[in-house]
Amino acid sequence: LKIGVLISGSGSNLQSILDACACGKIAGRVVCVISNKADAFGLERAKKAGIPALHLDHRAYSGREAYDEALVASLREFGVELVVLAGFMRIITQVLLDAFPMRVMNIHPALLPAFPGLHAQRQALDYGAKVAGCTVHFVDCGCDTGPIIIQAAVSVIEGDTEDTLSARIQKEEHRIYPEAIRLFSEGALKVDGRVVTVRA
Ligand code: GRF
Repeated sequence: LKIGVLISGSGSNLQSILDACACGKIAGRVVCVISNKADAFGLERAKKAGIPALHLDHRAYSGREAYDEALVASLREFGVELVVLAGFMRIITQVLLDAFPMRVMNIHPALLPAFPGLHAQRQALDYGAKVAGCTVHFVDCGCDTGPIIIQAAVSVIEGDTEDTLSARIQKEEHRIYPEAIRLFSEGALKVDGRVVTVRA
């Protein structure tokens, strides 16, 4: 499976995916990493792993569709079969989704459908939630609304700050994202409407 990873920042999820490919857990490899931010540390991680690392600046394009067309062109150039959004802080459009139907995944730091959108961990704390977590899902045209593949829960502990809760959630992110990609790479995910099941 040829995987393309889109990032905007640190790329710790990217790292967990690179590691899972390197040790043979995922039947596939990351063929390119694209960031909309020039200074994303994830680009360094990609280079270190010997993987093409591209900066595609969204500000150089007239709008979201035009930007996504450029993304699609790059992803196709590398023969990408699965697009993995890993801290990619851009809203994607139908242009990307049509090019990769049910082949775009995202990770969100909340137990969807609770707390979609930005600052999900902050939202959970402010709401007074006692359980938080993360969700890997296929991307559809909504914001954090696509079919759920895997979720993991963590406790909210008294005295938690956004940082301490985020760190607890990230540990789980680094476990479930490679796992979801592994299942996909083995053809084990079946999508029926909203519901994703795992073939034994
Ligand atoms: C993660 O918390 C992820 O859930 C969210 O963005 C963050 C990315 O972190 N979508 P990293 O760049 O993978 O370290």
